[in-house]
Amino acid sequence: MLKITERRRSTRVSNLHTLCCWCCCVSDMESCRVPHHVLLSFTLIFIFISIPVPASAEDTVQVKFNQRAVLPCKRRCSGEAKWTLFSNRSVVVAQCDQTSCRSSDGYKMSHDQYLKGDLSLTITAADYSKRNRYTCVCDGDDIEHVLLSINPMKSSLHIYPGEDLQLELHVSERVEVTYRSKYSGDLYGEQICSVERRSLTCTDKYTWRTSLTNTLLTLRGIKVSDGGVYSVQDSVNKEDLHIYSVSVRVPGSADNTVLVKLNQPAVLPCVRRCSGEAKWSLFSNKDVVARCDQTSCNSSDGYKMSHDQYLKGDLTLTITAADYSKRNIYMCVCDGDDIDDFRLRIKIITSSLEIKTGEDLQLELHVSDRVERKLHITDGHGAEYNLISDADL
Ligand SMILES: *[C@@H]1O[C@H](CO)[C@@H](O)[C@H](O)[C@H]1NC(C)=O
Ligand SMILES: *[C@@H]1O[C@H](CO)[C@@H](O)[C@H](O)[C@H]1NC(C)=O
Repeated sequence: MLKITERRRSTRVSNLHTLCCWCCCVSDMESCRVPHHVLLSFTLIFIFISIPVPASAEDTVQVKFNQRAVLPCKRRCSGEAKWTLFSNRSVVVAQCDQTSCRSSDGYKMSHDQYLKGDLSLTITAADYSKRNRYTCVCDGDDIEHVLLSINPMKSSLHIYPGEDLQLELHVSERVEVTYRSKYSGDLYGEQICSVERRSLTCTDKYTWRTSLTNTLLTLRGIKVSDGGVYSVQDSVNKEDLHIYSVSVRVPGSADNTVLVKLNQPAVLPCVRRCSGEAKWSLFSNKDVVARCDQTSCNSSDGYKMSHDQYLKGDLTLTITAADYSKRNIYMCVCDGDDIDDFRLRIKIITSSLEIKTGEDLQLELHVSDRVERKLHITDGHGAEYNLISDADL
């Protein structure tokens, strides 16, 4: 960073010289000469502009959680080379000199590399405790400032009303949770809780419902209105650590109903790239009707999942002919996580019958259990029969 800045500064100064010389060539020497104090103030202004900005993009190393990270620093260093925390220079995570290198747990500098002029720092597994700005130092001079940043994790959770929501905060210091309702137009949401030195503080609305165990925040008694996006953020840099999309739903609620005609195919959509086992199971008895993994799909009679679609991140279930026995709540599951659920319903069939006095009336009940009959006389000439199951499936 400093290196780049210095190079840029000298380029700019020499441009100024070029400009001046060009002036001098095309016109009279005396009238064109830039007064010394003007040149000086240009230089001063530029020095002011080029003070290193800590958050610039080129000095950030971003990795996935628990991945190896390499913080670059190129400088032939004859004496002591070290990496310190930017925020506290007395914390040295690794150091090298002509004889050897030493480092704290999880950090590494290579002596071979040091001798070749490469002072890079390797962080073996970038967890949240390692997120920091680090400074590469050679013989007391700062060479680089590098920020280690971890890609935010993303989870989507489906929770039934009354259950608890658990959010992993990953750290117990300087972290906050913001909530953005599904229905709110607010882009950033509101801060609901913060944690400082292992102690939890929440807004009035949340205090009595929340608790903290190590780095796990629990929000009790979830309501449908709690659905939305919860972001776990570093409260200093406002950097997202984990983003949870939470949907709260009544099993088989109206907005997730698939209504089809008797014996027609039904399509239950579920979009999710699933690296492991994807399956559809019944809410009533947890029976699995179809499943897929990387090698193949396998399904019960009358159900189908496509392996091509599975590989593309589409876990849609096709029911070839929706009869009354197929009415149920179907849950789409990826690697043990509920992704979505649907209630399959079949359109009510209306038939009009003409029967002469003395004839028998026959009603098809379609199912053998949980059925009640409602008789409804429409006028003097006929009758209308509605078959409605007691479970209203
Ligand atoms: C810097 O780190 C040292 C060693 O861990 C510690 O004793 C000191 O209190 C820290 N200073 C600040 C300002 O945090
Ligand atoms: C899949 O295949 C196995 C063995 O071939 C079978 O037992 C199972 O019932 C099949 N169906 C589902 C939905 O897993």
